[in-house]
Amino acid sequence: MTSPVQDAIDAVYVVAILAFVLGLKAMSSPATARRGIVYAGVAMLLAVVVTFFSPGLSNFAWITLGVVLGGGAGFYWARVVKMTAMPQMVAVFNGMGGGAAAAIAAVELVGSLSGATAVLSFTGAIIGSISIAGSVIAFLKLQGWMPSKAIVLPARQVLNFGVLVVGIGFGVAALVGLHAGYLGPFFGLLLLYGVLLTLPIGGADMPVVISLFNALTGIAVGLDGFALVNGPLGDAGYAMVIAGVLVGAAGSLLTMLMARAMNRSISNVFFSAFGAAEESGGTVQGSLKPIDATDAAVMMEYAGEVIVAPGYGMAVAQAQQKVKELSDLLSAKGVTVKFAIHPVAGRMPGHMNVLLAEAGISYDKLFDRDEINDEFASADVVLVIGANDVVNPAARRKGTPLEGMPILDVDRAKNVIVIKRGQGKGFAGIENELFYKENCRMLYGDAQAVLSQLVTALKRS
Ligand code: TAP
Repeated sequence: MTSPVQDAIDAVYVVAILAFVLGLKAMSSPATARRGIVYAGVAMLLAVVVTFFSPGLSNFAWITLGVVLGGGAGFYWARVVKMTAMPQMVAVFNGMGGGAAAAIAAVELVGSLSGATAVLSFTGAIIGSISIAGSVIAFLKLQGWMPSKAIVLPARQVLNFGVLVVGIGFGVAALVGLHAGYLGPFFGLLLLYGVLLTLPIGGADMPVVISLFNALTGIAVGLDGFALVNGPLGDAGYAMVIAGVLVGAAGSLLTMLMARAMNRSISNVFFSAFGAAEESGGTVQGSLKPIDATDAAVMMEYAGEVIVAPGYGMAVAQAQQKVKELSDLLSAKGVTVKFAIHPVAGRMPGHMNVLLAEAGISYDKLFDRDEINDEFASADVVLVIGANDVVNPAARRKGTPLEGMPILDVDRAKNVIVIKRGQGKGFAGIENELFYKENCRMLYGDAQAVLSQLVTALKRS
C-alpha cells in the first residue's frame, strides 16, 4: 500500500541514494574528494531524518537519544582528531557500523524470522560481529595500546576454525528454533573469532585489514537492509541495502588495491601471521652518516633530478607546506623535482596524495611507485621525508615482516638523504639497512624544522 507520505519518503530516499553514488564518484580523485564527503554526509542525513517520518516507526525517544549520543560523540571526535590518528578513527567508525549491523540482526533473530529473511539476518550477524571485534583490535594496534606486531597463539588455525564452527553451530541451533538462548554464545564466539582473526596480523598489513573490515561492515548493513525490507519500515531497508552495497563494493576494491600494494593475497594477510617474522630486519652493516642542512641543500641544488619520497613522518610533522616551498625553490633553480608515492605510505590510503594536494603541489609531479621506481637508479638525489617501511630493503628478503612488499627502490639512487628525528623504527618495527648504506646520509630533526632549514639555505645561495 502506498500513501502520499510514503511516496514523499521514497522520493527522498532516491535523492539520498543518488547523492551516495555521486559522493563515492567524487571521492575517487583528491581534487573532488571533499565534495564527495559532503554529498555522502548530506545523503546520510537525509536518509536518517526522513526515516523519522515512516508510518511504522515507534520508540522516538530512544531513537533520538541514540542519534544525539552517537552523532554527538562522532561529531566531537572527528573535530578533535589529529590527522595522524585518522586510521584508528576510521577503524572504530567501521567497527561501529559492523556492531550496529550485528545488533539489528540480533533483534531480528530474537523475533520470529523465517526463510530468506532469517538467513540474511543470520549472515549479517556473523559478518557484523567479526567486523566490530576485528576493528577494535585494529584500533588498539593502530593507537599503540597493543603491540602492532603479530600476536600468534599456539595452534591458532585449529582454534580459530573451532571457534567459528561452534559459534555458527549455536546460531543455527537458535535459528531452527531450538532455543533463543543460543544466540548469546553465537554472538560471543563470533566476536571472539573477530579478535582471534586480527591478533596475528602484523603492523604493516593493517591497511588491508582496515579496508576489509570496512567492506564487511557494508555487506553486513546491506544484508540487514534486505531483512528489513519485509518489515514495517520496508523502504528504509532499500536505502540500507544500497548504502551497504556501495560501502561493501568500494571497500572490496580498496582491499584489493591495498593487498596488491603489499603484494599479498587476502588469505595470506589473514592466515600466514606475517608480522611475527624476525623483528631485527637482519644484521645491518655500515654506519649512520649524518649530514647538515647546508650541505644537503647544496647537494640538491646541483642535482639534475631530485625525487622526494614522503612517509608518515611528513604527516606527523605537518611538513607538506615546507615541502612545497622546497620543491618550488629547487624547480626555480632548474632542478627537476618529482614525488614518489607509495600506496601504503602514511597511515591511510591516499594519505600522501591528500597532504601534498592540500599544499598545492600539482598532480603531474606525483608518481605512483610503479611509475617511478625505475627512475631511482638515475636520480642524483632522493630525499626521504619521514618514510621508513616503504623504503626498507628488508622487504626484498624472506622471513622479515615486510617480506614481499614492493618498496620504493630509493637505495639504488646515487645519493639518498633521509630526514627523520632519530633512530625510530618504522611501523613494522624493524631496522632499516638503507640508513647504513654508503650512498645514504641522515639529516636529523623534525621534518618541518629541517625543511625550513633547507629552504633558508636554498634562499641564501
Ligand atoms: P613508517 O614506517 O611508519 O616510518 C615513519 C618514520 O617517520 C619513522 O621511522 C620516524 O622515525 C619518522 N618520523 C616520525 N615523526 C617524524 C617527524 N616529526 N619528523 C621526521 N620524521 C618523523 O612510515 P612509512 O614509511 O610511511 O610506512 C607506513 C607504514 O604504516 C607501513 O608499514 C604501512 O603498512 C603502515 N600502515 C599504512 C596504512 C596506510 S593505509 N597507509 C595504514 C596502517 C598502517 P623517527 O622516530 O626517528 O623520527
